[in-house]
Amino acid sequence: MTAPVLHAVVTGAPPAAHVGVLVELAQRDGWQVCVVASPDARKFLNVPALTEKTGLPVLSEYRQPGDPVALPRSDALAVVPATGNTLAKWAAGISDTYALGLLVEAVALKTPVVAVPFSNRAHLAHPAIVDAVVRLRSWDVTVLTGDNICPPHPPGPGGPYAAAFPWEVVWEALRARVETTHPGPGVPALEEQHR
Ligand SMILES: Cc1cc2nc3c(=O)[nH]c(=O)nc-3n(C[C@H](O)[C@H](O)[C@H](O)COP(=O)(O)O)c2cc1C
Repeated sequence: MTAPVLHAVVTGAPPAAHVGVLVELAQRDGWQVCVVASPDARKFLNVPALTEKTGLPVLSEYRQPGDPVALPRSDALAVVPATGNTLAKWAAGISDTYALGLLVEAVALKTPVVAVPFSNRAHLAHPAIVDAVVRLRSWDVTVLTGDNICPPHPPGPGGPYAAAFPWEVVWEALRARVETTHPGPGVPALEEQHR
């Protein structure tokens, strides 16, 4: 039987540096993991280490026209960490990074997605970002927030708070979503055309 596939989408905030923890949790449960990084996430990542751990390239760019699709289709996605920027663009349907393209398609494909916003209180309190979280949840995206998950930190650098990122909670939430989700009919061709 083929292993289920997780797309671990990382965006440009300090916890991105620790996404290897999620890779290991998912691999332990028999999943194949592909790390997809926004261009701004790459500065936080050890790309060679993640490539070795997953056996796949860490992709950030759309493929060239005519090139083959580089990643297997996902059975679930995690957006960890999710920047305010990515949340706002995702809810608006913007696909100007490869990571966003996968996330925008996942909504229509009804692929299980769990996202955990990470930023400071002032940033995440912006009405457009608050609204984005509400809209994403209304489309069945699981956005984990709250004091017991990953509370927004005080304005200022987030690096000191990155180590507390709730990787185990993310993986448990994703597993629970996968068990209760059934894929929607009729749209996979869209993903094949555009990614
Ligand atoms: C050192 C550093 C730390 C950052 N921390 C955060 C953060 O915690 N949360 C956030 O939303 N953006 C943070 N940013 C800003 C994002 O990286 C920036 O908004 C970027 O455009 C996000 O792009 P992306 O959503 O495509 O990854 C940080 C930037 C830097 C350079």
